[in-house]
Amino acid sequence: MSLVSGPGRAGMANLPDELQLFVDKHHKDRLEYWLTEHLRLNGLYWGLTALHLLGRPDALPRGEVLEFVFSCLHESGGFGAAPGHDAHMLYTVSGVQILATLDAFGELDQRVKDGRLKIGQFIADLQDPDTGTFAGDEWGERDTRFLYGALNALSLMGLLHLVNVEKAVQHVHSCKNFDGGYGTSPGAETHSGQVFTCVGALTIAGRLDLVDAEKLGAWLSERQLKNGGLNGRPEKKEDVCYSWWVMSSMAMLDKLHWIDSEKLTKFILQCQDPELGGLADRPGDMVDVFHTCFGIAGLSLLKHPGLEEVDPA
Ligand code: FPP
Ligand code: ZN
Repeated sequence: MSLVSGPGRAGMANLPDELQLFVDKHHKDRLEYWLTEHLRLNGLYWGLTALHLLGRPDALPRGEVLEFVFSCLHESGGFGAAPGHDAHMLYTVSGVQILATLDAFGELDQRVKDGRLKIGQFIADLQDPDTGTFAGDEWGERDTRFLYGALNALSLMGLLHLVNVEKAVQHVHSCKNFDGGYGTSPGAETHSGQVFTCVGALTIAGRLDLVDAEKLGAWLSERQLKNGGLNGRPEKKEDVCYSWWVMSSMAMLDKLHWIDSEKLTKFILQCQDPELGGLADRPGDMVDVFHTCFGIAGLSLLKHPGLEEVDPA
C-alpha cells in the first residue's frame, strides 16, 4: 500500500452524525501513541499511513520518526521491531514503506553507505533460489506474506532486479486454488489476506495475466455479508481490516464495482469510536491502530470524501 500523490478530495458529505468520518478524533499526533509496545515499527507505519490518508501528513515529527526508524536498522540491512530486536522481513518492509512515505531514501543513503542496497540485499538473501519463496528471517517458515513484502519493498527502492522475480511469480501461481484464490502455500485454503499478498505480488511483477479475474472477483465479492462488512473466507465473521485485503485485491482486478460500497461505508463508519477516535474490527469492540489504518484505507478506496487516495498494491 502506498499513497497516490495529488490533491485531496472535497469536504465531508452531508451524512447523519453517526455516519460522519471523525477525522479530528482519529488524528493523534503523539509519536508514543503509534509506538505501542508490541507493534513498534509496524504500528508506526500503520499510524503514519492513516495520518497521511486523513490529510495530516505532518502530524508526527518527521525527524523523530526517522531517528526511530534508523535506530531499528541493523548492520545486516534488516530492520527489527524496535532498537535491539532481531531483524525480520515484516519490520524491514515497514521500515522501507515509512522511508518511502517520508521521501527519505536520500537521508538513508547519507547515514548508511549504500543503505538502500544493503536493505535490498538483506531481503534478497531471504529468497530460496530453488523455489522462489521468501522466509521471514533466517530460521522462519515461508509464506506468501514475505514474498509480497519482499517485492513491495524492493520495488519501492527500485531494486527488484536483486531477486528472481520469475521464480517468485511461478511460486505464487502454484498457490492458486480451484476457486481462483490463493493460500499461504500450494494446496492451502484460500484466504483474503493471502489473496491480497498474491495479487499484490503479481501486480508488482506485471503478471496479472495469471489471475482468473472473473472467478476470483466473484469469490471476493461474496465476502460481503448482509450487515455490509466483509469477511476473510466463507462462514467467517466480518472484520473491518478485510475492507482493505478484499477491496484492494478487487481494485487490482478492476472489480471494485462488484461491492455494495454504500453498505460497506456504513459498516466501516460504525466501527469508529466517535469519542476517543480510532476504528475497531467490528462495531463496539476496542479500537487499535491496525484496524484504524486498514478501515481508513478501505474508505479511501471507496473514494470517501475528505481522504487522500491510496494505491491498492
Ligand atoms: C486473520 O486470519 C488474519 C488477518 C486478519 C490478516 C490477514 C492479512 C494477511 C495475511 C496479509 C498480511 C500482509 C502482509 C504484507 C503482512 P484468521 O484465520 O485468524 O481470521 P478469520 O477468522 O477472519 O479467517
Ligand atoms: Zn482484522
